[in-house]
Amino acid sequence: MSASIGLRVETRPDVTCGGTVRGVRLAELDEATFRGVYRLWLEHKLLVFPDQRLTREQQIAFTRRFGEIEIELAELSNIRADGSIASDPKTDFTLRRLLGSRFWHCDSTYMPVQAKGGVLSAQVVPSEGGQTEWADLTAAYEALDPPTQVRLESLSAYHSLSYSMAKADAPLAGAGVRDAQVYDGYGSDVREPSLRPLVKRHPETGRRSLNIGRHAYGVVGLSEGQSEALLNGLTEFACQPPRVYTHDWQVGDVVVFDNRCLAHRVRPWKAGDARVLFNSRIAGDPATESALAA
Ligand SMILES: [Fe+2]
Repeated sequence: MSASIGLRVETRPDVTCGGTVRGVRLAELDEATFRGVYRLWLEHKLLVFPDQRLTREQQIAFTRRFGEIEIELAELSNIRADGSIASDPKTDFTLRRLLGSRFWHCDSTYMPVQAKGGVLSAQVVPSEGGQTEWADLTAAYEALDPPTQVRLESLSAYHSLSYSMAKADAPLAGAGVRDAQVYDGYGSDVREPSLRPLVKRHPETGRRSLNIGRHAYGVVGLSEGQSEALLNGLTEFACQPPRVYTHDWQVGDVVVFDNRCLAHRVRPWKAGDARVLFNSRIAGDPATESALAA
């Protein structure tokens, strides 16, 4: 009997994506079981594995099984170097870097190649809030009426971290930005926006999904106002039940999500509570995740 036959996924009947897999040790997956995990991942778009407590090395090794690595392991943390908890985004750079994650987005769409997916693990969790939510952009596209689908198929938008961080009140350094505490983290050296179609086809499942989120702006052929109204309207429509999967973190949880068809965001948490997640990013295949040539 193949080891992968034993994999069982618990889904939520009221949500179009997401599932929980228990009874496997991600640090010790044989190849057959991993193939089973990968198939479940494509089907459900995100998988939760409770109580894994992976080491950094084990998390990186697990991420590497999904493809090339874009980010090995970054700490998403509000704990300052001296151990105290950052509380004011205006003065705490630690917190400022996390500001953008409050808004719905897909990872790395502002880069020349957008990410394939991400692996997150919970190290320290707050007493209240701090959930991560994912929105199913395939189900969103499929729920649109056919004339809207056709219209969107012909449209493209620019994606830029410079745009999204300015909107999140943590601008990148540059002309006119005098604040010493600008965002200079991952991706801030990429200044050329990426042009991406509003509808993308998943390279492995073949299903279409919306490609939207906080980095997107400037739909080609529309005025600034029309573009913003369209993108805001699509995000509002997409990121609501039954398409939103909310995960309440427990220490040791690991989540792997498909960035090619899901958006995500972080929910606020109790002020003064520490929250630390480890984030690894799976690189996109340049053949399918590249921006359009300008
Ligand atoms: Fe993200």
